[in-house]
Parts: sequence; structure tokens; C-alpha cells
Amino acid sequence: MKWTIAVLPGDGVGPEVTRLAVDVLGSTAKRFNHELKVDFHDIGWSAYENHGDPLPQSTLEGCKSADAVLLGAVGDPRGDKLPPDLRPERGLLALRKELECFANIRPARLLSCLADASPLALETVENTDLVIVRELAGGIYYGEPSGILEDGEVALDTMRYQRNEIVRITRVAFEIAMDRKRKVISVDKANVLSSSRLWRKTVTEIALEYPKVDCSHMFVDRAAMELVMNPQSLDVLLTSNLFGDILSDEAAAVVGSIGLLASASLNENGGGIFEPVHGSAPDIAGSGSANPLAAILSAAMLLRQTYSLEMEARTIEESVEAVLEMGLRTPDLVRGTVGATVGTETIGSAVSHQILQRPAEK
Ligand code: IPM
Ligand code: MG
Repeated sequence: MKWTIAVLPGDGVGPEVTRLAVDVLGSTAKRFNHELKVDFHDIGWSAYENHGDPLPQSTLEGCKSADAVLLGAVGDPRGDKLPPDLRPERGLLALRKELECFANIRPARLLSCLADASPLALETVENTDLVIVRELAGGIYYGEPSGILEDGEVALDTMRYQRNEIVRITRVAFEIAMDRKRKVISVDKANVLSSSRLWRKTVTEIALEYPKVDCSHMFVDRAAMELVMNPQSLDVLLTSNLFGDILSDEAAAVVGSIGLLASASLNENGGGIFEPVHGSAPDIAGSGSANPLAAILSAAMLLRQTYSLEMEARTIEESVEAVLEMGLRTPDLVRGTVGATVGTETIGSAVSHQILQRPAEK
């Protein structure tokens, strides 16, 4: 099979981790006899520097003509001085919108060999395996009006949802739950927000289509608490755009490190953007210490979602687990008594090495 992938390394640690993820895709293609074609495009701060636009037309066209998009990270402190429309993050938000990627899937599972990387006690986190299904194309990220008014004295953002946006993300969450523990918790703030009341009403209606799935509702503040107190009890968390953004960083910490969390942002046509949940981490960019595993695991999600290549995806995931079991740790995975750590390149190429070494299975 031929894979045509648009790669958007972006900013900060983005290029460093993406390079290893592309290497892993190359090794996987080699190992399973596929052909990999990658085209690189700018996004975020680097795109602003090179083209004056955080999402240049050439990038958008490259993404639209590829089978899927693999993205690193966007964001740069220098972007803080730019007008809102030119900020690096705008490039990513515009790309998600243009590709209609409304369903953001963020799995968080504790790997047993990494239990010591979690800040929580083993008995609390053990067996944690949850997935956040985050609405990605609406809500307060895109609601109008928004902006700064009255000479900087007032600023506003609008949390807006329409029923059909809630319907489609709810169906995604319930479909995912059908293949898992069949438990959806819909997260909202319906005691305060109108958009959340519409959210809860709509989810309740759609849940009737899935009688086999246990559906409940939880306020976001309580959900934040449950995530650290009882993460094992959670299966699928269905959230709006902003709540999912916040809770997914929390879920990442619970299972050890944000350097491990991969995500898929999908549209109705099977297309998608695959990116680590972490940001551009400008503080460690260039130090060679960023964890590339989230980017590598995003590449695995890409193969599974875009081409239904379960065996190839699983091989990448198992290879990641194998290198962690061997004891390789980037600095983000080490807590307390500091052990020896390795850099981006070492852990990433160990994954590629594993993929090429693994015996063929059928
Ligand atoms: C994420 C990020 C983005 C978001 C930023 C970089 C715009 O935090 O993917 O979680 O808020 O969606
Ligand atoms: Mg985020």
C-alpha cells in the first residue's frame, strides 16, 4: 500500500519529535512492505516566519491532497506579540476547521512498566485505561463574538454549540464505547452554562440509540477530581472543546507524562490530523531531550485510522512498550530519584530498531 502523508513539524520540539515519528513510519513501511511518501509543510510560528501566515495556502493544499496529516506542535513565545489571527495556534485551529476534524480522540492508558512515572499511588492508577473524546471544531475556541473591546478594558469569548455539533461527537463517543467498557461519562457545566444544558439534553437523547452503553453526566469540576481520585473507573469521557483540552493534560499526568499521549482528530470522511497532545515545549526545544513517543504513537493511530492497518499500528505500539520495558526513559518519564535518562534520538531510534527486529506474525 502507498501511504501519502503530509507532515507538519511546526514549532519548538515539534520538528524533533516528528522526525523520529517519520523514521518510525519509514521502518514500519519497510518491515511490512508499504511505500511511504511524506511531504513537509510549515505551520504555526515557523509558517508565520516563512510565509507571513500560520496556515499558508500551500500547507492547506498539501494536507487536503494527502491521505492524512502528521503534526508536531505549534506555539512560540514570540507569537504572543502578534495579532490574534497571526498567532501560531491559529494555524492549528484553522487547519482543524478547514479539514472539519471535529472528533478528537485522546486515549490515556497506564503502561504497567511506567507506574512509577505517575504522581499518583499505584493502587489509584493501576489499570487506568480511558479515552477522552473531545469536540474539536466548535465551542469557545471558535464562538463569535470574540475579541478585545473598549481599548483593552473588556475581552470576550463565546461558548456556542449547536445541536448537530453535539450529536455528531456524541455518536463518535458511543461508537468508541461500544468497543470498550461501554461506559460514557459526558462532561459539562450544566448547572451554570446554557451551552452545557443543550449539551446534556442532546447527549441524553442520543444515548437512547445505544441502550448497551451506560451513560452518565458529570460536571467538569467533579470530573477533574474523579480523574485523579478514581481514574480506573473511567472509560469514555465525552467533552466539549475547552473541557477536553484541560482534562486531557490532566489525564496525561495521571498516566505518567504528557510526552506519551497521542491523539487523532477525525472528520466524517475518514481523514484526520494525528498529533501528540503536548505542546511545543519551547523551554526544552533544541535540547534533544523531548519525548518522541507521543508523536510516534500518533503515527500508529494514523495507520490504524487512515488505512485500517491494525497489525502495523500494533507493532509500533508494542515496540514503544518494549523500549520502555527495557528501561529507556526520557527526562519527563523519571520521577523522584533520578535515574539515567536518554534523549529523543536514542529512544526514538530504539523504537525503529524494535519494529525492524520483531518477528513476523500472522
Ligand atoms: C491541544 C493544544 C491546542 C488546543 C493549542 C495548541 C491550540 O493545547 O491540542 O490540546 O488548545 O487545542
Ligand atoms: Mg491542550
